[in-house]
Amino acid sequence: MATAWWRDAVIYQVYPRSFADANGDGIGDLAGIRAKLPYLAELGVDALWFTPWYASPLADGGYDVADYRRIDPAFGTLAEAEALIAEAHRTGLRIIVDIVPNHVSDQHVWFQEALAAAPGSEARNLFWFRPGRGSGGELPPNNWTSEFGGPAWTRVPDPDGTPGEWYLHLFAAEQPDLNWNNPKVAEEHESVLRFWFDRGVDGVRIDSATMPAKDPELPDLDRRHPPTPHPYVDRDAVHAIYRGWRAVADGYAEPRALIGEVWLDRPDRLAAYLRPDELHTAFNFDYLNCPWDAARLRAVIDRTLDSHRAVGAAATWVLSNHDVTRHATRYGRADTAMGRNPAQHRAPVDQALGTRRARAAILLNLALPGSTYLYQGEELGLPEVQDIPDAFRQDPIFFRTHGADIGRDGCRVPLPWSGTAPPFGFSPPNATTAPWLPQPARWSEYTPQALGRDPDSIHSLYRTALRLRRADADLHTDLFRWLSEPDGRTLHFRRGRSFHCLANLADEPMALPEHSEVLLASTPLGTRDPALPPDTTVWLRTT
Ligand code: GLC
Ligand code: CA
Repeated sequence: MATAWWRDAVIYQVYPRSFADANGDGIGDLAGIRAKLPYLAELGVDALWFTPWYASPLADGGYDVADYRRIDPAFGTLAEAEALIAEAHRTGLRIIVDIVPNHVSDQHVWFQEALAAAPGSEARNLFWFRPGRGSGGELPPNNWTSEFGGPAWTRVPDPDGTPGEWYLHLFAAEQPDLNWNNPKVAEEHESVLRFWFDRGVDGVRIDSATMPAKDPELPDLDRRHPPTPHPYVDRDAVHAIYRGWRAVADGYAEPRALIGEVWLDRPDRLAAYLRPDELHTAFNFDYLNCPWDAARLRAVIDRTLDSHRAVGAAATWVLSNHDVTRHATRYGRADTAMGRNPAQHRAPVDQALGTRRARAAILLNLALPGSTYLYQGEELGLPEVQDIPDAFRQDPIFFRTHGADIGRDGCRVPLPWSGTAPPFGFSPPNATTAPWLPQPARWSEYTPQALGRDPDSIHSLYRTALRLRRADADLHTDLFRWLSEPDGRTLHFRRGRSFHCLANLADEPMALPEHSEVLLASTPLGTRDPALPPDTTVWLRTT
């Protein structure tokens, strides 16, 4: 019988460029990942999600896909990807790949053909080409702005070299938006899904999942008071796309999972993506965005569970990914919410506090009903690298906002694995090139080699927690019940029959409730006075 593994899996996000470099060119690659499969299996995760590994000029870290059926040569070959999938399966790990429906790379053959073709041609109708406004067409067709800053339109020359039409890109200019009103776009994506599902991939993560459907009128937008429906976010038409994808996914003997990147404030609108004939799960950005605050976390947890229950979907819990400031850093600031404006970026960080809370948070996440996403390096307690010299920065957000938003490079720095100096085992000893982003010298203390020896390290905590979670039947039921009142200090709930999770977010220690066994605590409990210290989560068993 097919298993709904995605309902409570622990999924580890691999950013291939920064995971492990086998050939010494300073860029992570598939051979590097393959060599680390034993590490991932030993960590105890159930699945791996790879951010895009396809042929790409990497204008946006691979989210600018030039060819879905090829692996980027910097990462390896299609044969290596197939071998990696097969070996991961043998190791007991499922595989999720990333699909980016909203746009392709400007180097994609479709866009190159569109550029060479005339205005009004079928080739241009795969994208959003429009004449400009103003007497000479010198103004963009509307006032939309890119999610990365700056205008959402770029003008291109006609094939004869004279200034011509503009094309829409809701992200970088190297990422032209596809026109989903053209049936060829849906056909191509369903074929790409089959291409990867046929190679054994167990699921896909769908990038910017709310954005592919556009109002064909392309009306101007008041960003501060956007209308409903919005001209490109969460339009009803987007659901037809995913119903088509679900039919493809369900066509396999072991149905494939569809996981949406759905950033929406309204839980009911998010839940609509999780109806039984659409996506299986979606990232819980409400939770990721929530400050480290008991009352607010409780409210988000309730909202999440309620809205998911309404459509029979499983919730997800995620605190870090390749787009946000690492939570070990966020949680060490006075303002623990997500954000990268200059004030947040310059705010002082109490790293010990951030780490302590990150340890408490993972026990909370893993005890909640649903699946959990881990971002590579969080099991090492890696902080955000906030002081990358500008000359090394690569994120288009940094350039398009002229540095007002520092961008996402700080969470994408190549992982440290071993040793006491860069590249910390990220690249082999004979490497010819330094890692593509510089690693801080202080990262020697964050390697699995250093942390693995210490039974109290965050790495040991993750491994123990994942092992306990996998083995505990109570954590694989849907049963969840609050045991504390919303007191703004603690989060205390029961899972299944006898599993208790208690997080103390107050400034004071608190007494432990009655229990028969302490399973695990995020910071060691005193033996003589086993009170729960501040910013600590404990797993308890009752009889
Ligand atoms: C998603 C990805 C992000 C990317 C953007 C455009 O938000 O997670 O990394 O830049 O989509 O594809
Ligand atoms: Ca490499």
